[in-house]
Amino acid sequence: MTAWLKKSVSIALFAAAALIAATALSGSFYLDNPASAQTSGKVPGQTLGATSDSELWRAIRKGKQGNVSIQDKKAGVMIQSEGESWRSIRNGPLATYGAWAVIGVIALLALFFTFRGRIRVDAGLSGQTVERFNATERFAHWLVANSFIVLALTGLNLLYGRYVLKSFLGPEIFSTLTQLGKYAHNYVAFAFILGLVMILVLWIKDNIPNKQDLTWLAKGGGLFTSGSHPPAKRFNAGQKIVFWLVVLGGFSISLSGIALLFPFKIEMFAGTFAILNIFGFGLPTELTPMQEMQYSQIWHSIVAFGLIVLIIAHIYIATIGMEGAYDAMGTGQVDRNWAKEHHRLWVEREEPPGAPGDD
Ligand code: HEM
Repeated sequence: MTAWLKKSVSIALFAAAALIAATALSGSFYLDNPASAQTSGKVPGQTLGATSDSELWRAIRKGKQGNVSIQDKKAGVMIQSEGESWRSIRNGPLATYGAWAVIGVIALLALFFTFRGRIRVDAGLSGQTVERFNATERFAHWLVANSFIVLALTGLNLLYGRYVLKSFLGPEIFSTLTQLGKYAHNYVAFAFILGLVMILVLWIKDNIPNKQDLTWLAKGGGLFTSGSHPPAKRFNAGQKIVFWLVVLGGFSISLSGIALLFPFKIEMFAGTFAILNIFGFGLPTELTPMQEMQYSQIWHSIVAFGLIVLIIAHIYIATIGMEGAYDAMGTGQVDRNWAKEHHRLWVEREEPPGAPGDD
């Protein structure tokens, strides 16, 4: 081998050794990769690159929002942990306490009926009648009442149907019934809202609290003692409470229902919570659109149970609980003695003592 050849071989060996050493140190064959140079090993763009799997999944688990190319940006949240809390509240305490509230009020009314019996007209029926509610008022009442009953039954089916009805109706009939019930729930809601507006306009003037209401409440409305008839105008304090709870609860349940019917269009809880926080409630005010929906659902159900309990008591007193009451909404005419005992100040205004018909 000539001296020239020996020199060339040793230069080539040195170059190869230098290349292997450089490769081993950098860990990559692509030493001139610009991404590596600019992001210190991380892949450029919005991808996580060198971030570890555990960090990635922890962020996803905590509801981190990623980027998606579709219009619905909410789809960028893979795991919404609050959803689990919402589901466990809905299927746990909400369903359990709701059922107990309904069973509880029925039990209390049964107990009340056992001890008090039917509240009779003490003076006996006179056979003469006074007009209590005109046709428009009765129409408005039955619009609210019938639509509420449909809404309550179809709503309760959404919460309990699968546990109560499915087992004996079978899955096919149950699912068809539930589907129809859901349509009824969505559409009948508008009849309920219309009825609410009507009763608000028709009856608000008779439901303004006054000083007789305090006496009426102090005497328990005379409901617990026979012969006790605290004076009342057109509506007594108990009825005024029913009226305002139905109107306010009715509008609140309607609003949350509309928020559920048109998802992600109405967000009212963050704003409401901010107002409540002025009174020291300490509620969260940064809510995602999904959390807004979850709060709407929980609130809708809480108000629904409140109204259902109230209305069961209302239906009781208006039917089996009190003699002569149903006629007010049936025919619109009530017995004069019933009216005198339960709404003396109203009858005296309608038919002043000494007027024809008054004895
Ligand atoms: C079968 C069901 C129902 C019956 C038999 C019934 C019966 C009656 C009767 C007789 C009255 C007049 C009481 C009076 O003369 O002083 C009345 C009033 C009223 N009803 Fe009903 N009702 C029913 C369902 C409902 C429902 C579902 C609602 C609302 C969701 C409702 C809301 C009201 C309101 C706000 C009043 C005026 C305040 C009061 O009297 O308590 N009713 N109802």
